Amino acid sequence: MKSIKAMICTSALAMAASVGAAHADKLTFYCSAQEDWCQLMARSFEDATGIDVNMTRKSSGETFAQVKAEASNPKGDVWWGGTGDPHLQAAEEGLTEEYMSPMREQLHAWAISQAESAGNRTIGIYSGALGYGYNTELLASNNLPEPSCWNDLLKPEFKGHVQMANPNSSGTAYTTLASMVQLFGEDEGFEFMKGLHANINQYTKSGSAPIKAAGRGENTIGIVFMHDAVKQAVSGFPVKVVAPCEGTGYEIGSMSIIAGARNMDEAKKFYDWALTPEAQNLALQVNAFQVPSNVNAQTSDKAPDMSTIKLIDYDFAKYGSSDERKRLLKKWDDEVSTLPQ
Ligand code: G6P
Repeated sequence: MKSIKAMICTSALAMAASVGAAHADKLTFYCSAQEDWCQLMARSFEDATGIDVNMTRKSSGETFAQVKAEASNPKGDVWWGGTGDPHLQAAEEGLTEEYMSPMREQLHAWAISQAESAGNRTIGIYSGALGYGYNTELLASNNLPEPSCWNDLLKPEFKGHVQMANPNSSGTAYTTLASMVQLFGEDEGFEFMKGLHANINQYTKSGSAPIKAAGRGENTIGIVFMHDAVKQAVSGFPVKVVAPCEGTGYEIGSMSIIAGARNMDEAKKFYDWALTPEAQNLALQVNAFQVPSNVNAQTSDKAPDMSTIKLIDYDFAKYGSSDERKRLLKKWDDEVSTLPQ
């Protein structure tokens, strides 16, 4: 027969084991989409699984730099959202984990091709076209002409009226730089970025900040993904969304598991869950108007209609490669950001 002491010890051990198990159910989630969407994803995953989520929102380029800096002692488990290029660079540099989700068969071909080009170390979760938006009231009160093309933004009367993010921190801004190089050719693309620089009032850290500032009336034109401009318009701000006449680039927003994740099982659970229609439909609750990667998820009728936008054939493999992304960012730092304004 067990002594009372032995019984107490056994139950204390059992309790300790169960507390230990509860503690193990956690996930460190790096998020590079909109803050409100990141929060909703974190809370909803907690509700669906009971796993505690510790979420940090940083821009795509910043998160890439953090994952790289932490590579010898990884702190994050899963990186969800943000433009695909830094996710592809992370894959190439071995910073993220290969994973084949059972959810893959429900995804659009563009989401799978993103995975295949990265040895299945990343996957597409949404897509969206680049463009810009402007505050219609500020435009009118400053007697400015309505812009409809990229080249319109170079007009001298727009000096101090254009805002975009810094391509080093922001995936949106890197997509802008890489799109101009693909749309106009490298030399002309850089000439465009230099001309634009003369009209820029501020390079922000986060990609969507310029259109939020336009919504608040603190900036006239913001170069952003079109869905971010639609979000401002739908929220009641006087923002008009532009699909530039020359054509434009786009993103495949991506998700990756961090190599050596401490909570690998939870990271995979999050990954599979994030690819379900239910999880992707959460976007609609926070006015995130990207096109979701699950074919059964809903796309809002307010989302920019990708089939009517002149899209370039964005070369994700090239512009998401480590060498090319580093080269273009360095060239922008050296030749554009240092110019007087
Ligand atoms: C916004 C957009 C996303 C995009 C992200 C990139 O949140 O809605 O579609 O992926 O910006 O953020 P970043 O700050 O890196 O430009």
